[in-house]
Amino acid sequence: MKTRHKLIFGNCMEMNEISDSSIHLIVTSPPYYNAPFDYDGLFSNYEQYLGVLNHVAKESFRVLSEGRIVALNIDDMLVNGTKYPIVADATKIFQDAGFRYRDRIIWKKPDGYLRISKRSGVILQNPFPMYFYPDNLLESIVIFQKGKFDYRSISKEIRELSKIDKKEFQNNNWHKTLWEMTNVLPGSTLEKNVAAFPEQLPYRIIKLYSYVGETVLDPFLGSGTTMKVARLLKRNSVGIEIIRDLEKIIRMKIGFYTSSDIFNNEDHLEIIERKTGKYKFVTLEYIEKKKSKENK
Ligand SMILES: C[S@@+](CC[C@H](N)C(=O)[O-])C[C@H]1O[C@@H](n2cnc3c(N)ncnc32)[C@H](O)[C@@H]1O
Repeated sequence: MKTRHKLIFGNCMEMNEISDSSIHLIVTSPPYYNAPFDYDGLFSNYEQYLGVLNHVAKESFRVLSEGRIVALNIDDMLVNGTKYPIVADATKIFQDAGFRYRDRIIWKKPDGYLRISKRSGVILQNPFPMYFYPDNLLESIVIFQKGKFDYRSISKEIRELSKIDKKEFQNNNWHKTLWEMTNVLPGSTLEKNVAAFPEQLPYRIIKLYSYVGETVLDPFLGSGTTMKVARLLKRNSVGIEIIRDLEKIIRMKIGFYTSSDIFNNEDHLEIIERKTGKYKFVTLEYIEKKKSKENK
């Protein structure tokens, strides 16, 4: 089956290139506010960050087909000693945009991922009550739905082509609200400077919530993980990313970098670079500079 992929460079607060109700699934991971290391100082304040999520939620509701799903990978964030309730605030924002809050899946990273941090180690220096600050091994995948899905709208043939492998489902505990998945390891080249999620995350979501031949959107595309997996699973895709410099990385990841790495020659990639609009392009260089300025 031939698939089509659209990569848009611009700000996803507006999605003018995408028509109403044309998307069948949204899988995405927005920046985690001003997360230390990844997005330190990117937003001037928390209200500005929530404003971005608010625009994205409204646009997501517009572009998504009736009955379909948004899977939002987010987590609360500790910035300069303040814990921001991002999951709760984002849930409210998506509800206010019209979505029904359907489920929350917890993604657990392997135990070996964390060593005892300075923060959680405080109690070892002071082994008394009130010195406890736990290290976080978890992230959330919040599932929202737009209206009701019409199961009869899918043909028998497409249902069969999209069938979920029951062994894969059972052996990997997909039925639980706790998904154990290995995170992308630091040092992996295609994900440098981008807080990428592991392929397993969009893989499960795309298989569980979309049919073959449908279109999956990731408005915070990063290195292109969602587009890569959508292509592998015979779905079309649309990705939006604000960092113009990521094109090469994304092309390499999704297999459109050289003609030899195209795994199905009939697949098609279109690239749109917004020339107008109020949103400026951000480059990796700009982010690096901003980060180092804020850190001084
Ligand atoms: C957490 S990363 C996504 C990583 C992605 N899931 C992956 O596997 O590579 C968030 C991405 O959103 C991009 N971004 C941030 N604000 C944006 C905006 N307003 N519009 C479009 N992209 C944005 C960032 O540049 C970053 O690449």
